[in-house]
Amino acid sequence: MQDKLMMQVAEQYNYFQSTLEKFQKPQKYLNYGYSFAKKESYEKRQEQLCREVFRLARLQPQDIIVDVGFGSGEQDFLLASLYPFSKLHGFNIAEKQVEYANHRAVLENLNDRMVFHQAPAEDMSMLTDDSVDKIIAIECAFHFDRPLFYQEAARLLRKEGLLVLADVCFIDRLRFLTKRKRDLQYVGTMTTNRMAWEEYFQTVELININKQTWRGAQQAAYYIALNLFKIKTHTFGEWRTWASLAITSQMVAIGLLTRLLSYDFIVLKKK
Ligand SMILES: C[S@@+](CC[C@H](N)C(=O)[O-])C[C@H]1O[C@@H](n2cnc3c(N)ncnc32)[C@H](O)[C@@H]1O
Repeated sequence: MQDKLMMQVAEQYNYFQSTLEKFQKPQKYLNYGYSFAKKESYEKRQEQLCREVFRLARLQPQDIIVDVGFGSGEQDFLLASLYPFSKLHGFNIAEKQVEYANHRAVLENLNDRMVFHQAPAEDMSMLTDDSVDKIIAIECAFHFDRPLFYQEAARLLRKEGLLVLADVCFIDRLRFLTKRKRDLQYVGTMTTNRMAWEEYFQTVELININKQTWRGAQQAAYYIALNLFKIKTHTFGEWRTWASLAITSQMVAIGLLTRLLSYDFIVLKKK
């Protein structure tokens, strides 16, 4: 992993993983969730976001599935409890998350069907062309070099295979922000992202979910801020990473409410 930004992102998620393990948090999702009601637990919202993505992916028992940016793999263990499938390959750059997911797959006797690779979404070269039926990407594509990722996803998918994303980007009016820093460039705008994916994919569904996601982002900011001052055993690196997630989550909640950010379910079919 040569890229400096990618290494920083991986380090950040390694910190998240080690804290979640240290505190033995039972469900280790790292997304803002999907709300059906005003009062729901954060974990319930997070699980609901994953369930909605699975539903949109129209999973079939014979499917070979790729999950990119799988976090701790929590969503894949949920998937395995809900759907039959043939094989699932996870791709993630954070070593600790990959180790945790592979270990858990062994413990849950799923390691013959689920394997988690430490490799970026932009280079899944261990899998061959036209070998995958469905690719899911839950709240992670804003970390990717999108043109490379869409190209790689299209390479892996069989004809008419689906790529389903739960994805956040800036609205078009904020395009100037994406020209400032590479991490913001990766977030992209709806128009730039769409132009990039439409080189390889046909857009099947594009569903805005700002209304269903802002509460979870707000809840995340609140919980993290609350716990930052309670928990004394963080290393400084972990503390700083969680503090910056609290600030980002608050900004995302405001961005979703004011519609400066767009959170969408995106269902794409390979051309
Ligand atoms: C916000 S978390 C989402 C985790 C999970 N999908 C969930 O919903 O709980 C983003 C994930 O994307 C991973 N990630 C970031 N950049 C990546 C890349 N270039 N390739 C693969 N995974 C990446 C991170 O390590 C992290 O696991």
